[in-house]
Order: sequence, then structure tokens, then C-alpha cells
Amino acid sequence: MADTHPDPPQRPLPDGIVPAEVVARTEKRWLGVMVTMLVVMMAVVVLTGMTHAISPPSNVETIDPTTLHLGGEFAESNLGTAQERDGSLTVRLIGGQFGFAPDCTKVAVDTAVKFRLTSTDVIHGFLLPSTNVNTMVVPGFIAEVRTRFTRPGIYRMPCNEFCGAGHHGMWARVSAVPKEHFQSLAPTERASCVQQ
Ligand code: CUA
Repeated sequence: MADTHPDPPQRPLPDGIVPAEVVARTEKRWLGVMVTMLVVMMAVVVLTGMTHAISPPSNVETIDPTTLHLGGEFAESNLGTAQERDGSLTVRLIGGQFGFAPDCTKVAVDTAVKFRLTSTDVIHGFLLPSTNVNTMVVPGFIAEVRTRFTRPGIYRMPCNEFCGAGHHGMWARVSAVPKEHFQSLAPTERASCVQQ
């Protein structure tokens, strides 16, 4: 099969074959689009992190998920809301298939709140819509998120990581109440609002 054409690259291409220069040009354009998207997304991550205190969970604290109930920070008596000496609140919760314990916690508005969560089984999600709270709850680790509620009300907290057949029914509540009301509550009433 002798090639008789004097300059093989100049031969007309069969139908449906795109010339190499066109392919290279198109690839370069798409590369540009991808790089721009990456730059925009990185900028969004950095800017929202700086302006809305939204940041990827980076709290690397470990805990043995098999002994949570036996004592330590996540023993049953420590769950719920506790007031620190400086007036800030710490809320400790455990996620497990398919619920949070306690499933209703009380916090005060205009107060620094720190949530500390861990999981007994698989990965769950902890999300409070209209706040900066959104983190994964990974067994073996303690997730920590800090926030401040500006408006009183009930904040629903759906599990936002698929965790099994009952995932859709896994949600709890945070009840944000005015500061004065919170201070008038007894410590047991502050700890959770499960009975109400
Ligand atoms: Cu827990 Cu989805």
C-alpha cells in the first residue's frame, strides 16, 4: 500500500474526523474553563471561610466509639448543654443510627456556643440550616463547631450524610431561647428540651 500523496498531513480528512489543531484548541479552551472553575471554587471556600466563619472541619480529636457510654466526656450525664465559667455554652451530642442524643437541646441567643459531637457507629452529618454549622460526625473523632445564634426559635438539625435505611428519619432540634430566659432555667432544664 504505497502512499502516493506528496504531503500526507495535507490530505483531506474523511468525514467525522476532527483535525488535530481543532482538537488541541478545544482542549486548551476546556482546560481554561476547568482552571477558572477551580480558581472560583477555591476563592469561594476562602472568602466564605473568612467572612462567614465557615470552615472545613479540622478538629482532629479522637475518641473510642465503643466506650462512649462507659464514662468520659460523652457519658449520658454530660450530654446536652453545659454552661462554661465564661458564660459560653458547650453542647455535647452523640449521633447513632438513627437519632441524636439528646434529640432536643437548648441554647441561649447572642451567646458563644460550641457543639461537640461524635458517632457511635457510622458517619452522620450535623447541619443547622441558616447558620454556619455543617460538619460530618465521624466515629472515632470528635467534631467541634462554634456558632452564635442571633434569632430565637427552633432550629431543625437533619442528619445530612446518608447513614443507612433510617437516614431520612434522623433529625433533632436545637431550641434557641432569649438569654434572660435561658439564665432563669434550672440546670436540668438547660441541659436539654427532650421532655418538652
Ligand atoms: Cu445519620 Cu444520616
